[in-house]
Amino acid sequence: MSDHTDAAPLLERCFLFDATEDSYEVTGIQGEIPGWLRGSYYVNGPARFERAGMRYKHWLDGDGMICTLRFTGEGVHFANRFIQTAKLKEEDAAGRFVYRGFGTSFPGDKTRRNVMLEPPVNVSVYRYANRLLAFGEQSMPVAMDPITLESQGDYDFNGSISDITPFAAHAKTDPANGHLLNFGVSFSATEPMLNVYEFDAAGEMLRRRRHPLKYQHSLHDMGMTPNYVAFYLSPLIMDFNRFVNDGVSVMESLNWEPDKGSTILVAQRSAKTEPAFRVDVEPGYCLHVINCHEDTSDNGRLLFVDVFEMERPIYGEYQPIPDLFGTAPACRPVRYVIDLDTQALRERIAMEYDKSPDFPAVDAARAGTELDDFWALGIGEFHASGRKFFDELIRGSWKTHSISEVYRVPRQEYLGGEPVCVCNPANKEEAVIICQHFLPADGRVEFLIFDAFNIPQGPIARLPLKHMIHAGFHTSFEFE
Ligand SMILES: [Fe+2]
Repeated sequence: MSDHTDAAPLLERCFLFDATEDSYEVTGIQGEIPGWLRGSYYVNGPARFERAGMRYKHWLDGDGMICTLRFTGEGVHFANRFIQTAKLKEEDAAGRFVYRGFGTSFPGDKTRRNVMLEPPVNVSVYRYANRLLAFGEQSMPVAMDPITLESQGDYDFNGSISDITPFAAHAKTDPANGHLLNFGVSFSATEPMLNVYEFDAAGEMLRRRRHPLKYQHSLHDMGMTPNYVAFYLSPLIMDFNRFVNDGVSVMESLNWEPDKGSTILVAQRSAKTEPAFRVDVEPGYCLHVINCHEDTSDNGRLLFVDVFEMERPIYGEYQPIPDLFGTAPACRPVRYVIDLDTQALRERIAMEYDKSPDFPAVDAARAGTELDDFWALGIGEFHASGRKFFDELIRGSWKTHSISEVYRVPRQEYLGGEPVCVCNPANKEEAVIICQHFLPADGRVEFLIFDAFNIPQGPIARLPLKHMIHAGFHTSFEFE
C-alpha cells in the first residue's frame, strides 16, 4: 500500500484467493432462522482477479460468480458457481486473461467486436420468467439453473435483444405485475440515447422507448414506479472514441465534468400523454437509486426519487484491488420531490449520514411504492486515510429523515453484498436482512441474518461457510 494508514487490515484476503465452487448443507448455524423464511437468496459479484501472474486492477473487472442460500424446512443449502460467460470460457482455455476489463487494459487485450467489453457479468442476479438471470453492464443476461446454478447461455427475451443491444445490469421488477424494466445507453458521439425497455412477466418485450441524451452519460441504475421511470444523469461522461481507438479501459475513458451539471430525467412508462422531462439538480454523482414512488393524494402529482448522492464518482475508489476506497467520497441519502404537473423540482431533502453508504435495499415486493425504510452498507471509517471497506449495516427512515439504526462489525471484519430485505409475506411488520460477513484474520466468511427492524441488536442467525467467498454486489430473494 502506498498510504501509511490502513483502515481495512487484511482486506487483501477478501479479494485475492481462488474461489472454490461448491454445494453443501450449511452446518454449525448459530441462532434462529425465522420459520417463514423459505426460498432462495442470490448474490452476484466479481470473484476472480488474478490469472497467470496478472492481476486485474478494478473491482468491476472480476469474473461474476453467483452464491445462493436455499432455505427449506430441512435446513439451508449453499452453492456457488462462476457464470460461464464467453469471456470466462475463453480465458479458462487460454489459462490467462484475454479480455480488457472495466478498469484494466493490457497489450493485446481483446474486446467484443472492438466496441465494447466482453462482459464478466458480475453485477446482479434476479429470478424472472421462471429463470435465474445474472446481469452485467451493457450485455444480455446469462440464464442459470435456479438451484444448481448451471449456466444455460445468454437470455435474449424471446429474440428481442442481441449482444449489441445496450442493456444495463440494474433491471427492475415491478412487483405489481411481474414486468421487468431495464435501460441502456447508446454511446453514439453524435446522438447519445437512453433506451428504456419493458418486458411482460413471460419475457415478451412490450416496448422500447428512446430518449435523446445531451451527453454520453455513464449510467448504472434507474428508478421505477407504477407509471414512471427516473434516471439521475450525472456528469460522468464516457469518451467512447477514446475507448474504441486508444485501447484504454472504460475507467480511463470516463471524465468527471461537473460543469455539465446533473439532471433527473423523468419519463412515462407506457402512456405517451406527457413528454419526458428533466429537472436540474446540483452536480452530484449517483450510482444507485434507493427507491421511487408516486403520490397523488397531496396538492398535485408528485414523484419521489430517493438516491445515494455522492460529491463525485465512486469508480476510482474501486481500485487498485485490494486497496479500495482510499479516498471514498462523502455520500448521503437524498430525496428529490418532483412535481409532475409543473415538471419542476419541489424539494431536496438530504440526510446527515455521509459515510459513503452504498448497496441500498428496500422490500422488493413493494418497490416503486412509498416505503419508509431502506437498508445499506456504510464505511464507518470513511474519513480515515488509506484503504477501507464496508463495516456498517444501516437502516434509513424517510419518516425521520435519518439513519435510524446502525450495526458495526469489529475492526478487521467487513460486510459485503447488498443487504437484501426479505419481508414476511404474511406480516409486513416482520422482515430480515441478509448480508455477508468477512473475518479475514480467521480466513472465515459467514452470512448474517438480522431482524430488519432491530439492526443494533446484532444478527439473529449466523451461517458459516466452508470456504472464503468474494464480497458481492447485488442480491435478490425469491420465495419458493
Ligand atoms: Fe449496482
